[in-house]
Amino acid sequence: MEKTYAIFLPSNLIFGVGTVEKVGEKTKELGKSKALIITDKGIVGAGLLERVLTPLEQAGVQAYIFDQIEPNPRDHTVVKAFEFGKKKECELIIGLGGGSPIDAAKAVGVLMSNPGPLQDYLRGTVVKNPLPPFIAIPTTAGTGSEVTQFSVITDTERSFKTGIGSPLLMPKVAIVDPSLMESMPPSLAAATGMDALTHAIEAFVSVNSQPFSDAMALHAIRLIGTYLRPSVANGSDQEARSQMAIASTLAGVAFSNAGVGLVHAMSHPLGGRFDVPHGVANAILLPFVMQFNLIARLERFGQVAQALGEKVEELSAVGAGKKAVEAVMQLSADIGIPGHLSGVSVKAEGLPLVAADAMNMKRAISCNPRVVKQEEIEKLYREAL
Ligand SMILES: [Fe+2]
Repeated sequence: MEKTYAIFLPSNLIFGVGTVEKVGEKTKELGKSKALIITDKGIVGAGLLERVLTPLEQAGVQAYIFDQIEPNPRDHTVVKAFEFGKKKECELIIGLGGGSPIDAAKAVGVLMSNPGPLQDYLRGTVVKNPLPPFIAIPTTAGTGSEVTQFSVITDTERSFKTGIGSPLLMPKVAIVDPSLMESMPPSLAAATGMDALTHAIEAFVSVNSQPFSDAMALHAIRLIGTYLRPSVANGSDQEARSQMAIASTLAGVAFSNAGVGLVHAMSHPLGGRFDVPHGVANAILLPFVMQFNLIARLERFGQVAQALGEKVEELSAVGAGKKAVEAVMQLSADIGIPGHLSGVSVKAEGLPLVAADAMNMKRAISCNPRVVKQEEIEKLYREAL
């Protein structure tokens, strides 16, 4: 074996029903007693903030709450959260929610310990200083942001969803408590679950795939193939919601280390320009991009089909790969995701612009197993429309 590999993980990952109660003691272990909680109004409304505030209070931690994070979080909201935390002299950050609050919390952490405006980091300035201690608590089984090195933020000047990537963004502690995910409505469980599937498949076929991320990606695909449908069907199915929480965390570790590909390059501009929810955009694009990528990674797509429960033993390599595409389409349809972008208000006239944006998602484009041109991206969008 000539290749070398590196893998980045949170220093402490805690999993299980009820583990959110450890947030107070973990904050204390990190030696801090003033926490900035970054979340959104939906989380507060669902009563999930209380689940974090009670143990913090019991541990004697003072908590300040910023609950104005929107979906596809914007740069100026991040700055607002940072200024609020600075004014309150917070020493530790807790990101509570789906990907948006956790990603926003990472960007706030960057501002707390690094000089210069946020725009610099969204446009490529390297993060040099370690962030303040950061605890991530996901409430969707989804984005995997609790275990990734990335923060995805919309640069409003350019209407461009971009991001910051650095191992320094990895949370110190990730608390994955499936009981926080029970209140997800079916549509959110479906969209975030398909985001996790996209992470796992894109990491598995990435040009930067490696044995450690492969193992996690493949197991995540198996779990999603088995548990996403029941998890969408019934939020009280604790087994299904717990297995999906494991799957999304595994998929998060996989793509944080192996990268994502063309699906994410194409879905982010749909978030930036049309505000399409991330998971829905991914779910619609995924089978079209898999079909395009098939010739680059035939054997691997056959493994994806198998992990999703398809019988492929008697099939040719091409036949097995195509089964993966069909299986993903069927899964999406079963859980109520629209099959086409026209179903989520994307307009044909905007496609040349989003295709140019997608081509600019350089990190994701460079991880995609098949080399792609802008005209091909535009053609894929049209097929998916
Ligand atoms: Fe994603």
